Amino acid sequence: MANARAGMAAALALLAAAALCCGTAAAALPRLEHPARNDGTLSLLVVGDWGRGGTHNQSLVAEQMGRVGEKLGIDFVISTGDNFYDNGLKGVDDQAFEESFTDIYTAQSLQKPWYLVLGNHDYRGDALAQLSPVLRKIDSRFICMRSFIVNAEIVDFFFVDTTPFQKKYWTHPGKHHYDWRGVAPRGKYIANLLKDLDEAMQKSTAMWKIVVGHHTMRSVSDHGDTKELLKLLLPVLKENGADFYINGHDHCLEHISSRDSPIQYFTSGGGSKAWRGVFQPNKDKLRFFYDGQGFMSLQLNQEQAQFTFYDVYGNSLYQWSSRKTGHSQPSTYLDDEE
Ligand SMILES: *[C@@H]1O[C@H](CO)[C@@H](O)[C@H](O)[C@H]1NC(C)=O
Repeated sequence: MANARAGMAAALALLAAAALCCGTAAAALPRLEHPARNDGTLSLLVVGDWGRGGTHNQSLVAEQMGRVGEKLGIDFVISTGDNFYDNGLKGVDDQAFEESFTDIYTAQSLQKPWYLVLGNHDYRGDALAQLSPVLRKIDSRFICMRSFIVNAEIVDFFFVDTTPFQKKYWTHPGKHHYDWRGVAPRGKYIANLLKDLDEAMQKSTAMWKIVVGHHTMRSVSDHGDTKELLKLLLPVLKENGADFYINGHDHCLEHISSRDSPIQYFTSGGGSKAWRGVFQPNKDKLRFFYDGQGFMSLQLNQEQAQFTFYDVYGNSLYQWSSRKTGHSQPSTYLDDEE
């Protein structure tokens, strides 16, 4: 517990430094340090698409996250975005922050830093509110930025703000309003972001490189693939040897393997409302798909990364491991049947 607090304080001090140094558009991505444990391992949970005041099984998922988090002794939690439905937060004093976050994820094991990205629903409210340090005074776990890096020694996590990529939000917002403050114009924002990401990934010396975004790269559910990400973001990931891309957006759990690179796609978007009843295969290899609520754990060390999906009862639905023998070498899959 003392360790966790020290870790959190260190992360926040760095966060303050990052905020001071990185005001301009094209700059190094903010970088937080979250050291692995003394034995060189790291455990975390990933949940997405959740903030609904506990409804739609959000509370059940939260409870099981607490139990699994306890069992694994997790170091932190990752949110893949759509943190607050339907329209993000109205401001820093929106009660939804407590009602959908603080009062829901109450388990002792979840009192760790949460690293969060924004989803498209978050952009429909006051997007700046979720990025504001004011929220950390209410609940110090909430560490949300647009794009940033968490360095955990054995792994670098690259959090990427994917909402601005999707063109239809700009051209066909319909009845929704998107908060593009600090983002528009789209082209310049994306170009800067991809350049910053590319530079950061090139410099990364961690054994594992994991990219986290809200939107799907590949998905067999309702939203399907995001073609802007396949076209613009995926090449940067391939070029720099990303191992995994983790996302939400589709309200399900899925694992898809790229057929033309070692990249593995994991969707953890089952934090509340689910059961869309849509299945549309794509060109990549589907390994696992669950159309209901749940979450994912990731356990890492230098050699191995193990992913597990859980349902609302905490049952393990699917497990998959990847093993590495050295830097920049393609992963081999323990269960590879091809
Ligand atoms: C909650 O989870 C159970 C078990 O998966 C499911 O049967 C039920 O439909 C879910 N409720 C909602 C509102 O999605």
